[in-house]
Amino acid sequence: MSNLKNKNILVGISGGIAAYKVPDLVRRLRKKGAEVRIIMTELAKSFVTPLVLQAISGYPVLQNQNGIIIDRNQKESFIQHIDLGKWADLILLVPATADLLARINIGMANDLLTATCLASCKRIAVVPSMNTQMYQASTTQKNINELRKRGILIWGPNDGEQICGEYGFGRMLEPIQIINLISNLFQYDQDMKGIRVAITAGPTQEKFDSIRFLSNYSSGKMGFAIAQAASERGAKVTLISGPVHLETPPCVKRIDVINSLEMYEEVKKIVENQDIFIGCAAVSDYKPERQYLEEKFKSNLKKIKLTLVKNIDIIRSVGKMIKNRPYTVGFAAEINSEDLISNAHVKKINKNLDLICANNISLKNHGFHTEGNSLYLIWSKERVDFLPYDLKIRISHQLLSKVLLDYEKKNRR
Ligand code: C5P
Repeated sequence: MSNLKNKNILVGISGGIAAYKVPDLVRRLRKKGAEVRIIMTELAKSFVTPLVLQAISGYPVLQNQNGIIIDRNQKESFIQHIDLGKWADLILLVPATADLLARINIGMANDLLTATCLASCKRIAVVPSMNTQMYQASTTQKNINELRKRGILIWGPNDGEQICGEYGFGRMLEPIQIINLISNLFQYDQDMKGIRVAITAGPTQEKFDSIRFLSNYSSGKMGFAIAQAASERGAKVTLISGPVHLETPPCVKRIDVINSLEMYEEVKKIVENQDIFIGCAAVSDYKPERQYLEEKFKSNLKKIKLTLVKNIDIIRSVGKMIKNRPYTVGFAAEINSEDLISNAHVKKINKNLDLICANNISLKNHGFHTEGNSLYLIWSKERVDFLPYDLKIRISHQLLSKVLLDYEKKNRR
């Protein structure tokens, strides 16, 4: 059976020549069992008619009506831009022109399509289509990067001949490619719906005078990717993050903290109400014994003695909970690959975890600040799974699939 069956896809069409391919895309979506509603921008109507799309989708096409966003044909309280955003499992912007990308990026809501995107926390996938110079323009690239950082999916464009006679990137993906991407997106099919997941991410900063602190190179990317993946699968996600430069994934509740004590306090507040806890943060193991917060160490001193004391182990306190303990997953960033698994296994036992995920951060392209990772999942001394190198978001989905299986097995007992 198609995994698009009964999925609600809101298709937003903007004014690009490739709009003529959208009727074919909609026809294929419906054949796979998806429900489709369509919003068009004013310019899109010059490239494909609402009548064609109405016939193919089976519903009237939604358009701006002098800025009025109450649909008189629906029940009184149906507010198009709000309710459509709630209805959709996916908002698909196809074709997405440079203008639409720019408007979505800066949060404009000056037509029904952009207002709906702004008012929704559902997944948005953008399928760019434009002249190759427009695509390569630094402003367009900046907009695309910003959207990507926010968790919006960017699909394509393809490379090839353009309608204007130029060659290069800018061609819209073919309908069949778009269908495959949507299908991949729904492969996990809300299998974490209703599950409450708390994740710690990023580094902590432990101050030792008024302007200096101890910290590490953690970027938070792994924890944020897990938060995004869990949220995409329908989990109710709380992300407790140290100082990072990352956008919050859609539909994720984020709590920002600076140091390990604050992280601990925030975890304590919510942990009893969580089903799964994932400690991905690189919490400082030690902190300065004294905080000279009002002072600043003089820079002309020959020697400064800084005494460090052991920090509270946040995940250990979760792992050892007696009442309402969530399923608990830890991370271990190791440098020495030889003892990687046995070192991580010792941590798993000491912290009473259900699973520890170990990675070798000294490998090229692994660990802090990188886009990808590979992970050893250590369930016991005898059972170790390996997730080979992939983008952090894909590794996160693979990890969550395995966690979910074990979580369900343990909960059934
Ligand atoms: O002992 P180590 O720091 O390698 O352990 C890593 C795991 O423990 C991670 O899951 C990390 O988030 C967690 N941890 C913690 N509190 C600390 C130190 C580590 O929760 N103070």
